[in-house]
Amino acid sequence: MKNKRLITILVILAVLVIVGILVPTMSKKSSKKTEVKAAKVGVLQYVTHEALDTIYKGIKTGLKEEGYSGKKVDIEFLNAEADQSKIATMSQTLVNHKNDVLIGIATPAAQGLANASKEIPVVMGAVTDPVGAKLVKNLKNPGGNVTGVSDKTPIEAQLKLVKQLTPKVNTIGIIYSSSEDNSKSQVEEFKTLADKLGYEVVEYSVPSTNEIATTMNVMLPKVDAVWIPLDNTIASAFSSVVSAAKDAQKPIYPSVDTMVSEGGLASVAIDQYQLGVETGKMAAQILKGKNVSKMSVKVMKEGTPVVNEKVAKELGITIPEEILDKADKK
Ligand code: TRP
Repeated sequence: MKNKRLITILVILAVLVIVGILVPTMSKKSSKKTEVKAAKVGVLQYVTHEALDTIYKGIKTGLKEEGYSGKKVDIEFLNAEADQSKIATMSQTLVNHKNDVLIGIATPAAQGLANASKEIPVVMGAVTDPVGAKLVKNLKNPGGNVTGVSDKTPIEAQLKLVKQLTPKVNTIGIIYSSSEDNSKSQVEEFKTLADKLGYEVVEYSVPSTNEIATTMNVMLPKVDAVWIPLDNTIASAFSSVVSAAKDAQKPIYPSVDTMVSEGGLASVAIDQYQLGVETGKMAAQILKGKNVSKMSVKVMKEGTPVVNEKVAKELGITIPEEILDKADKK
């Protein structure tokens, strides 16, 4: 009887000792496994504007959250400033410098990188229409060396806001860049949805920022309000849009909060910083060994209402309480 009890105690003790030794070594092993190896990340931003700058900040945070900061990451950052030839040469530079993963901020940058390499993984940072831009065959199964984050403009919610804030609007004018694949698909979708709601839509495309002011002046007399897609060319020279619309006393409905701060009336917009964070995290997962061709594109489409109360006041528009309560105020 006594012996039995002694044996039980000894067995329990032995188990405790073994567990005590095994568990810490096992967890050490697994922490070794997730320890990140230093990596080189090449980033190409299409042009300077606040939304893209914010996305880049988010990308650095996303990488950091996955362990890629300080000595663990060497980021080579280039900005093509909307110059097509720079996109090509800078993409090649990032490839030649043997970066482990490439990140393209905005459609033209992602396209440049995808053209420069079929091997190095390319992560799209905020590409609105990855299929239309021929960056991936399929959002679920990209299949090649490109995946990333897509920002799908919440157009339906934006149109609802147009109705709520400016019920008398009949004709909406769109201005966008003819060289951006991301804008083409947004304009098509906007026209279809606006048509269903009974709006007239007129669209004007510009080859570069130089034509924005004159085009606005041609368009404004024909429209009651202006809608702007996620268009990099317009975003980078948005002040020309704002000053023309201000003179004509017409509201602008842009697709991003930064353009609301800069003089647009209101929007339902996707968080730009968060787009960047998700992009950085996807790049980090690839660096840790995930297969790029099997990673689905992450589509972000939920927006938050954003209003510019000063602009509303200047236009004599009262923003209903229910919208003000939920909205970010710029
Ligand atoms: N989605 C755009 C593209 O595909 C890039 C973009 C992100 C953007 N945020 C923006 C453009 C804000 C204009 C304004 O190229």
